[in-house]
Amino acid sequence: MFAVDFKNPLNELTKDDLYVSLEAALEERYENINEIISGTESKKKRKSSESLRKEFNLDKWGTLNKILKQNKHFELEDIERIEDGKIKMHFFKDDQHFKVNPEFFRNYLKFLNLESIIKMFNLCDFNKIVEIGCGYGSKLLEIPKSIKELKNFQLIGLDISDNGLEIANYFAAKYRFNLTTHKFNFRKENIEKLKLENSLLLSNYALHYHKSFTLSNIKDFIASGIVAGIHFEPCPKLISTLRNKNYAKLCVKYIQHNDYTSNISDAFMDAKKTNIIKLQISEKIYGNGLLPGSLITWQKV
Ligand SMILES: C[S@@+](CC[C@H](N)C(=O)[O-])C[C@H]1O[C@@H](n2cnc3c(N)ncnc32)[C@H](O)[C@@H]1O
Repeated sequence: MFAVDFKNPLNELTKDDLYVSLEAALEERYENINEIISGTESKKKRKSSESLRKEFNLDKWGTLNKILKQNKHFELEDIERIEDGKIKMHFFKDDQHFKVNPEFFRNYLKFLNLESIIKMFNLCDFNKIVEIGCGYGSKLLEIPKSIKELKNFQLIGLDISDNGLEIANYFAAKYRFNLTTHKFNFRKENIEKLKLENSLLLSNYALHYHKSFTLSNIKDFIASGIVAGIHFEPCPKLISTLRNKNYAKLCVKYIQHNDYTSNISDAFMDAKKTNIIKLQISEKIYGNGLLPGSLITWQKV
């Protein structure tokens, strides 16, 4: 049995962290919240491989990689701290809005990934863990760090961003983790070409950058050798089931406005219907801002 050496941040939440209202929660985060609420927001954003490369490779991970190159003594937590900033964040859970420390949501996702990986070991066999859209490896590199039995486990990181992968490789070498990376654009390339036999696939806020995500993407995962998956992704159909209808509507509007893929959960349900996977979708929809996510796990039949 594996032991996870990582605290569940949900245990830290208290009533004192509650926001007084949804508006108060979002006001601090979105300058244009009134426009989003009233639907008068200016034109919809369009995502493309080029805009995604600019957003992540140049702007986000490019800036972090420059900082890392000037500060070679930095640890991965230093880079995460810079990404998270200092301002408290919004966290949505069970129809309530909390004000949390900047690192809270990252830690929540790390905990969820670690816990789900351990559960997956009891459900199927795999000998590698692949993260699609791994960024700079924040979640992926937490695995060998926090589960000592997995210190040498084979990890594979896929991302469109050279800078993200460079940071991940830098820290994997520093900590002697077993990581390989591939620059990979899931909008243009088929995952089937990668050698992923007997892998567990992870994704954290990445699949929604697909132009559209369908049953055929899941068939491609399986054809590449992936045997199971753990995904934390925003899914409008599931979000629409939230009791807090105002929040749900805003989230769906926000997803449409940002041109994020809206059919991730449908694709997994289609795969279940065609009997190629066993599927579990958590009823909990937690997250920050207007992009709460759902935990989706599956195993190849
Ligand atoms: C919100 S970030 C999440 C990063 C990482 N999963 C984490 O949780 O720390 C989304 C990631 O998806 C990657 N991405 C976006 N579009 C992509 C594409 N078409 N192909 C591969 N990766 C992509 C971005 O470069 C970025 O690293």
